[in-house]
Formats: sequence, C-alpha cells, structure tokens
Amino acid sequence: MDDDTLQLDGKVLKVAPAEKTTQELVKEYLSEKGLPLDIAVTFDDVIILDQMSDIPSRSSIIDTRGHLCRGIYLNTPIVSANMDTVTESRMAIALARLGGLGFIHQFLPHEKRAEEVKKVKRADSGVIENPLTISPAETLTKAKQIMDQFQISGLLVVDDTTKKLVGILTSRDIRFEHMDDKRVVEAMTHSPLITAPQGTNLDQARVILKKNKIEKLPLVDTENRVVGLITAKDLLKIEQYPKALRDEKGRLMVGATVGVSSNFIKEAENLISAGADVLLVDTARGFSTKLEEVIRKLKMTFGEELPIIAGNVDTPEGALMLIQAGADAIKVGIGPGAVCKTREGPGVGMPQITAVSECVAIARKYGIPVMADGGIRGGAHFCKILATGASTVMMGYMFAGTEETPGEPFYEDGDKWKIYRGSASLEFQLSRMDRDDASPPAGGGGISGVRAPEGVPRRVHYKGEVALVIHELMSYLRSSMSYGGAWTLEDFRKKTKFRRQTASGYEEGRPYSK
Ligand code: XMP
Repeated sequence: MDDDTLQLDGKVLKVAPAEKTTQELVKEYLSEKGLPLDIAVTFDDVIILDQMSDIPSRSSIIDTRGHLCRGIYLNTPIVSANMDTVTESRMAIALARLGGLGFIHQFLPHEKRAEEVKKVKRADSGVIENPLTISPAETLTKAKQIMDQFQISGLLVVDDTTKKLVGILTSRDIRFEHMDDKRVVEAMTHSPLITAPQGTNLDQARVILKKNKIEKLPLVDTENRVVGLITAKDLLKIEQYPKALRDEKGRLMVGATVGVSSNFIKEAENLISAGADVLLVDTARGFSTKLEEVIRKLKMTFGEELPIIAGNVDTPEGALMLIQAGADAIKVGIGPGAVCKTREGPGVGMPQITAVSECVAIARKYGIPVMADGGIRGGAHFCKILATGASTVMMGYMFAGTEETPGEPFYEDGDKWKIYRGSASLEFQLSRMDRDDASPPAGGGGISGVRAPEGVPRRVHYKGEVALVIHELMSYLRSSMSYGGAWTLEDFRKKTKFRRQTASGYEEGRPYSK
C-alpha cells in the first residue's frame, strides 16, 4: 500500500500526504545533490560532476538569468555586497549595465543613500521623466554644483513663474566661464530650442538627435513646459549594454539596504521614493524575532508587492522563518566572507555549500530564491554555489579593488591598492564613530563603545574595471554549464550534482607549481 492510502473496513482510502518536515526536505535535497548530511562542507570539499552534454560550445549558452526575488530576474546572476568599500552608485551603475545588481550599503545616512539611488536611476535612462532644471536667475556656481552632485552634463532652464522652457545650460557653456556671480541666463543657449512633444519614443528621438546633431532633446507639453528629456548619451548606453537590467521605464535597476534600527520605516520610505527597485533588510543575525518583525511591518506599510530580500541566515529553520514572515528572497551566509571573523570570534556560522543547499532545500518548496552571500574567491566557487541551487550570488571580495568601488586607490610597496574592510571590523566601527561624531560612553575612555571586531580590514590589489571580473566569472559559468549539459542557469541549478573530494583530490586539481 502507498504512504498516502489507508485501509478502513476493507476499503482503500486516499489520504492527503503528510507535510514533509524541514529535516526531511533537507535530507531529500542533499541526497539529490550528492552532498553529505552528517558533515558541513564548503567550496573545496566538493567538485561538480560533469554530465552528458549536447552543447556544442560554451558560447552557445545565452540564458544565464537568475531569479533575484519576486518579479525580478537578473540577466547576470551577480550582486555586489552592501558594504561601504564595495557598493555606492558607481558600482551599482556598472553592475546594472552588465545585467547584475548593486545594493547601496546602509552605512550612509538614509538621505545620502537615497541620493545614491537617484544617481543610478538617472544614469542612463531612456526617457528622464523629471529632468533636473534650474532658474535663469540662479548663479553658475550653483548650476555647476548640481551638475557635479548628480554627475550630469546639462540642466534645462525653466522660468520661475511660467514654468516654460527658456534655455539649456551644458557643461560646455560654463567650461571657460568665471563663475563668481554670473547668472545662468548669461551663459545658457536660449530658446527656441529643438524639442519634441510628450510621448516621443526612443526611436523617434534618435532620428531627431541625429538630424539636428544635438545631444539633448527636451520633451515639452503644448505650453512648452518640460515633461521629459532624452539624451544621446543615454541612447548610446542602451545600445552599448544590451544585457543591462532596466525597469519598465528603461532606467537601470538598483537595490537599497535598510538595517533593523528603529527608523527603518522612514528609511525605507525615502529609498523607495528615490526609486529603489528592491529593498534588502540586512543584519548579521537574520534568524531573529527583530528581523521577522521588520519584514512584517515593511510589508504591512508598503504592500505585498514591495520586493524584500532578507538575511543573513545559514540554516533551513532560519530561511523558513524569513519566508513565513514574507521575504521574497533569502540571503544566506554567516562567516564565509573574505573579511569575516564571525567563525573565528564568536565561533558561529556554517560552511557555505551546506548552508546554501540546506536553505535552498526549504526555499524551493515556496518558490523563493536564495542569494548566496560571501566566500567567493574565483570561478570555481561561483559555479559551485550556483550549482547548489542558489539563484544569485553576492560578492564583496571579488569586486574589492575595482575602479568602481568607493575610496581612492593608493600606492604602497611598489603596488597600487584599495581598501576592503569588514562591516564589523574595528576600523569600520571607528570610522563611523568619527563620522557620526559619537563619543565613547562616559567614563569608558578609549574605544570602549566599540564591539569586539567580527571583521577585518585588508588592502587588495587594484583590479581595474569591474566588467573584467564579471566577464571572467560569467565565462567560467558558461563553461561549467556546458560540462553539465545545462542550456540555462535554471537547468544548471537543478540538475548539477556534486561529489565530495579529499584534500589531496583538491590539491591534484590545482596547477602544479613545483
Ligand atoms: P566576500 O567573501 O565576497 O563576502 O568578501 C562578502 C560578505 O561578507 C559579509 N561581511 C562580513 N561578515 N564580518 C562578517 O562576519 C564582517 O565584518 C563582514 N563584513 C561583510 C557580508 O555578508 C558580505 O556580503
């Protein structure tokens, strides 16, 4: 007799199958994947098995889309860490252009975080809906300040009273001007300008820009009031980055992080109105009643449709709690990171292959994707973590030292470096106290207001553009998929199996260097 039948008075009755427990789901999934149940393993403990493949070459693989969360799929399953030495607007712009996503870190005051979000949304939009404008009576110094702040090369000039377009001021107009107290009206190009009516699409705009050899096309209503702007630079960017992750208005997508402080509703409100496409609620101890409450309140305040990613957890029980609280994706990883000390300090955490696969075991039942966070040192790690079933991968170390990370490079020991530091490192805590002008507690003296560090700072070699890192990782992923006979990333996540390897097996697989 089947498990889901029952014999009663000689009759065989169908009964609803019993819900599988979390442990049963984990056991089933690990066995499917060829991963051990009794011991926690990480990247170098396992190896991906190759399978019969009908893929003629790596370059024939084109579908590497990864499910980020409710309603959002990344064309490149890569996410940059919400750390102060990794992701601000520059990194987020670069990643979104390549099909991934950046999460603006939470260690800036939320107003500044919102500004970073806005910079991404303005970076290479199709149609800019609310272009920045300036009054003709304003000073050139103010105009320059706005252009610098929003990293844009021009401002539309709008009359204060009639709100009509009266001119355009570009960085070229002010290049050789002495700012002092000169006014915008003295340097701008005056109307009549070449404009287009509201509703002009990108193809029509391309024709007008080309014909008139202009860079900017203001869109105006019948009263000549500004309703939008299309720029040649944005149109070129759209062609240049065919994989870019864009929202329905053609703007690059970006994530923003909120912590679990008492101010989280205000923070979220500000970030959402700045244009954040997804919120990450991030805390080192994600398996907590506090995070559960924050997710519920965010959903209650902003509605079910607001995509929320929550973490970090490293057990299926933690993942289940966040899913039941309403999270649309789960971020997994405690202690695997390159600048983490959580395993070494408090002694907590879980080797990452086990952590991610066990969380996937439960999350897949609810159709919730898992974002693997931390521990990636190169192609093999990246491929292995996706093969466990993670849908996207968050990285800090791989991006550290690239041009797009915040902070200036410096020279030391004959080399060029940048700083990468843990968000719980002593140096990070001290710099925040400095920034917030927080004094140590009375009578404490010295650094007694600081927690024992659970992260470290390090200098990392300057790596150039982040595009090079992404290119290498994606090229290894396509290769791994072709060995595994997987035409799509979804397929790869599902069908790939592992085998455990010994330390000497791992050694054997490294290039021989004696
Ligand atoms: P990778 O290995 O990509 O890891 O550099 C990035 C992730 O590390 C986490 N992180 C920390 N973990 N102490 C920790 O234990 C820290 O100070 C710290 N700072 C960052 C974080 O999850 C990040 O995404």
